[in-house]
Amino acid sequence: MCGILGYTGDRQASGILLAGLARLEYRGYDSAGIAILNDGKIKVAKNKGRLKVLEDRINAGEEVSGTCGIGHTRWATHGEPSDVNAHPLWSDDMAVVAVHNGIVENYREIRKMLGEHGYTFYSQTDTEAAVKLIDFYYKQEKTPLRAITQAIKKIEGSYCFVLLFKDFPNEVWGARKDLPLIAGQGKGESFLASDVSAILQDTRQVYYLDNMEIVQLKKGSVRFFDGEGYATHKEISEVTWDANAAEKGGFEHFMMKEIHEQARAVKDTFGAVYHSGKIDLTEKGLSDEAIKSVSQIYIVACGSAYHAGAVAQYVIEDLAKIPVRIEMASEFRYRDMPMDKNALAIIISQSGETADTLAAMRRAKENGIKTLAIVNVVGSTIAREADSVFYTMAGPEIAVATTKAYSAQLVACYAIAVKFAKVRGVIDDSECERLIAEIQKLPEKIDEILDEKGSLEAIAHRFINARNAFYLGRNIDYAVAMEGSLKMKEISYLHSEAIAAGEMKHGPISLIEKGMLVAGVMTQKNLYQKMASNMLEARSRGGFLLIVSPRDCDYLKDEADFVFHVPETDGHFTASLAVIPLQLLGYYVAVARKLDVDKPRNLAKSVTVE
Ligand code: G6P
Repeated sequence: MCGILGYTGDRQASGILLAGLARLEYRGYDSAGIAILNDGKIKVAKNKGRLKVLEDRINAGEEVSGTCGIGHTRWATHGEPSDVNAHPLWSDDMAVVAVHNGIVENYREIRKMLGEHGYTFYSQTDTEAAVKLIDFYYKQEKTPLRAITQAIKKIEGSYCFVLLFKDFPNEVWGARKDLPLIAGQGKGESFLASDVSAILQDTRQVYYLDNMEIVQLKKGSVRFFDGEGYATHKEISEVTWDANAAEKGGFEHFMMKEIHEQARAVKDTFGAVYHSGKIDLTEKGLSDEAIKSVSQIYIVACGSAYHAGAVAQYVIEDLAKIPVRIEMASEFRYRDMPMDKNALAIIISQSGETADTLAAMRRAKENGIKTLAIVNVVGSTIAREADSVFYTMAGPEIAVATTKAYSAQLVACYAIAVKFAKVRGVIDDSECERLIAEIQKLPEKIDEILDEKGSLEAIAHRFINARNAFYLGRNIDYAVAMEGSLKMKEISYLHSEAIAAGEMKHGPISLIEKGMLVAGVMTQKNLYQKMASNMLEARSRGGFLLIVSPRDCDYLKDEADFVFHVPETDGHFTASLAVIPLQLLGYYVAVARKLDVDKPRNLAKSVTVE
């Protein structure tokens, strides 16, 4: 979390930093700040609130001139959002100024140690302790490199720093551990950023920093050092992402734009593994031999990626007849469970940076288990550390609430499920071809659903003042209900719970009141009747029934208050269609409530803290 940037070159830094921070705001948006080094002085402008507040205050950057600077958008961990706690933070003589992403876990000890040397502290942040620690070594060592190498030996936790040193004009320094930092190289200028989208307008030539690596930017040159301060060599990479993908393209919100990009994301993700009529996972480390040797699968993820994994659990188990366990990364990382050495861990993450997911993956690796990461962001930490990577082809996702990355994750899992089923002899050639054909038809069906979105916009107004909602489902539909419910609560702030429909009678039913939204996902033919009974139980207690079902489902047509029909598909792939109206419902309720759809309160897209 937190977006960080650095720039040095010939252009005015403030404008470049403000523009780049706008593209990093998805990482946090409770405060923003920049620092500019000019004529041997560092000037800082920062405040609580959105970037726009800062922008207005410094007249779009004109009030802070200079061609070398750093910037930050914050998601508070230590210390409430406030002007004082906003980054950048500085040493008292303004010799060292830094922005930081991550957590300095031992900041109390560092403060204590520095206190014994006369340092005092003005903020509640862990960052100030780190900045002053770097300053402490800088005063002894006299060079940024030696100060940083000394400091990172002492700092515990995960971090990414970008720094200015008053006495080193036109230089920006950075260091990372477990959190993303990339360096960009332009003509006569260079950049540091949390992610490529922030600098894509300016350069496509980037370097991905390794863990514990240190970087020095000068105008148009970038140098790297290891944790001991020895120079290292890195290869430059070219980013192929479309820069326009990070613009709204005529939509009111990124979320709606991304909802509309789902058909393409699904098509491209499947297309990446479908060659000459076959699914080929060899490049993903899954040769036929490797697939045959897998004894069981753990799927590990957080948030919506976990929900995609929950769908995958049902699909892979049913199609490939192999045991699958879906695990929340934050739980998995601290569980001491016996793990089969022939298991495969599938790690799902849009950003490839989620702290819990990364730690869970490392844990699986420590246990000698092969890891396959399904990741959207190229070059992210999870992608680089996994044994093999299956990149989803969703492109940059900006809205905090994920839609197209989730859909791309689903189809990646379908490809794995069908391939495993075929290689392990559970399905024959013709069934395999039929399933592939069904997957290939999903994009056009997704677009068909989007053509009907008007009816969901109309019904959403009914829930402007609603306080609670239930989302029910069984089997795959329960996993879809979890994602639908999350979409509703995270952007519309309407309290919502997903319930395995059969569990409702064991407690949640007592909460149903007249008019309460009870959304039912009904796509599993063998469970239509059971679901219908559970929905009618909710209706008898006053629930407002909203049903998402395929066109051929006759159940509840008369009893439900609202039915949204999705096209038919094979029962294993219904999640890809049923989730679309639920994403739209959450979106339209949030819009009707006049909320900030793309940046919901308290959330961040990339969650790099525990
Ligand atoms: C945050 C985001 C979610 C996302 C989750 C996991 O909570 O708001 O949309 O599903 O993190 O992120 P990942 O990048 O690992 O998929």
